[in-house]
Amino acid sequence: MHQQQRDTVLLILLLFQSHRAKNYPPGPRPIPILGNLLLLNLENPVADLQRLAKRYGNVYTLFMGPRPMVVISGVQAIKEALVNKAADFSGRPQGLMMNHALQVKAPGVVLADYGSAWKEQRRFGLMALRNFGLGKQVMEHRILGEIHRITQLLEQSVGKSTDLHQLFHKAASNIICQVLFARQFDYDDEFMEFFTLYFSETSKMLQGFWGTIYDSVPMLRCLPLPFQRVFDLFKMARERYSVVLAESKVSRVPGKPRHFIDCYLDELDKRGADGSSFTEDQLCAFMLELHFGGTDTTANTVLTGLLYLMNYPHVQERCQQEIDKVLDGRMKPVLKTETRCPMCRLSFMRSRGWLTPSLSVFSTAPPETQSFWDTPYQREPLSSLTCPQYYAFMPFSTGPRICLGESLARMELFLILVTLLRKFTFVWPEDAGEPDFTPIFGLTQTPKPYRVKIQLRGAA
Ligand code: HEM
Repeated sequence: MHQQQRDTVLLILLLFQSHRAKNYPPGPRPIPILGNLLLLNLENPVADLQRLAKRYGNVYTLFMGPRPMVVISGVQAIKEALVNKAADFSGRPQGLMMNHALQVKAPGVVLADYGSAWKEQRRFGLMALRNFGLGKQVMEHRILGEIHRITQLLEQSVGKSTDLHQLFHKAASNIICQVLFARQFDYDDEFMEFFTLYFSETSKMLQGFWGTIYDSVPMLRCLPLPFQRVFDLFKMARERYSVVLAESKVSRVPGKPRHFIDCYLDELDKRGADGSSFTEDQLCAFMLELHFGGTDTTANTVLTGLLYLMNYPHVQERCQQEIDKVLDGRMKPVLKTETRCPMCRLSFMRSRGWLTPSLSVFSTAPPETQSFWDTPYQREPLSSLTCPQYYAFMPFSTGPRICLGESLARMELFLILVTLLRKFTFVWPEDAGEPDFTPIFGLTQTPKPYRVKIQLRGAA
């Protein structure tokens, strides 16, 4: 190579060099342009992140391309950051694919940076969700109505081997849609089909290989690479929400909200142009986040729970015995019985533990819980619920950004799993081979597709 070419290459490398910012924790040495990307399996980086934590400690720096990222692991460090130093650690990264796809016109809540606009929207969101049923009996009825639909569908598959993927997404989507705009959809409705596809595709893409490439190598962003599909899907989702919003505006009676959208529109009327964070674009972003957040997480937790319960049949049986005893002759499960079903609670908690990735922006399954989750079902439920590792478990996170829909999610998970286990036994089909518990990595983790054999329980 000639001297001049060498100088040019050197200059380019210097220009794109990932600089270690001052006062950042230690970490592997980054290379120009790619940072530390070559150290990670971009399809699922969890194991690599854990390996690096063993080498560099519970707080280390990793370069995603030129962008430094501090990885925090371990319950003490996580609590120190998210609770004790909440004001410093409750922000959200900006300029990523997620921001570009979701926050086209307004920041929403999930990805909004820590500040007064986020606080204002979050406070409103909690209030509106409570008004429209969160933690109330009306929500219990809505959930049970949707479960009735699932059980009817499952009854048609009794004795056969069937695929449950999408079923729980559709049920969870209908539950949150009732809160957002008081509508339920048939499971083969175009709206339903679109959103279930959209949630699963975008969840994988945003935190998968192409999402990481988009986030880490900005110079590739305008190329026609597979990540462009995410932008198309978000655009199509927004168009559908605009239709729903337009319909609500026509039929609403101001001051008499029927659902979340009406409530938000009332707030907009009240505020006028007071310069607050309330706008119609913000409403669309918020709807999308609640719909997404309320569907994919809950559905994948149920799917993960069933995968494990099928492969630990003695645990499934103990849950069923507990359910039969506590519900006695009652027709439907009610949330009040939750505290009397420790085995079921523990099993559902575990589903969330298996599901939650360690070490991602949104995640909280500290390694301290690992031994707990890695040795499933060896403890008695009550002692497990009080053991120290259990308290290290934070599937809904902690601190100011704790999940906004936690109480809805808990309600859904309990009622769905109790109703299903009371009526059916789920069996791993004989011809299905060994189960693969490794989840597919994404914004939420999804169990690999599996088939289920459904048996009707005699006593139900
Ligand atoms: C099993 C079900 C669920 C799990 C495991 C889960 C987990 C989480 C986690 C880990 C976070 C991030 C917290 C952080 O950044 O530190 C979060 C945030 C959030 N979740 Fe959930 N979630 C679930 C269900 C729901 C449901 C049903 C809704 C909607 C009603 C929802 C709405 C949200 C929202 C809006 C945020 C953003 C909060 C903020 O940034 O202020 N989630 N969730």
